[in-house]
Amino acid sequence: MRSLTERMAQLKILPVITLDQAEDILPLGRLLHDSGLPAAEITFRSAAAAEAIRLLRRAHPAMLIGAGTVLNREQVQAAKQAGADFVVAPGFNPTTARACRERDMPLIPGVNNPSTIEAALEMGLTTLKFFPAEASGGVNMLRALQGPFGRLDFLPTGGINAGNIRDYLALPGVIACGGSWMVDKALVNAGNWEEIGRLTREAVALVR
Ligand code: 3PG
Repeated sequence: MRSLTERMAQLKILPVITLDQAEDILPLGRLLHDSGLPAAEITFRSAAAAEAIRLLRRAHPAMLIGAGTVLNREQVQAAKQAGADFVVAPGFNPTTARACRERDMPLIPGVNNPSTIEAALEMGLTTLKFFPAEASGGVNMLRALQGPFGRLDFLPTGGINAGNIRDYLALPGVIACGGSWMVDKALVNAGNWEEIGRLTREAVALVR
């Protein structure tokens, strides 16, 4: 988990991608790679997820690739087989956590309150997705949670964009932020690679 959090802390942004067509990951992955953001969380919100992870892994073997919105054992298995480096979940599900542990798959579970943080800690998980970040109280809420849980690594996600990402990254313990704003599904479906490239380069410039 350490090298994973170190890689995320270097990149500072984890693009959250949901695809209708798995093949769209090829131009998108190349664009992210060439724009200085060689990372992707591909969510199981669509049926294309496993195939997209497989295609991206083959095209960019060294890219940091996560499987997102993983809700159960079967999806953990599919993520592993497809070649994901890690799994992200919207919440803390002990069954998902056990499935990841059995497969040596790093897990970043979603949390937004002290009780779920304690439940995740109980299973040894110390890199946590603060989700949904903005709707849960944003930077103020995360700062308050860091009082008792100051030694944890956080990946805030949900409602983050070019306008607020630096506020989150300014908090100690925030390793990176997840977000879909530069890889928005409507832009991908429209094949608007130019705008995706512009938003990605803008995001990278903001955080480096
Ligand atoms: C996720 O699945 O992690 C979130 O939907 C990403 O949040 P965003 O779309 O608000 O960036």
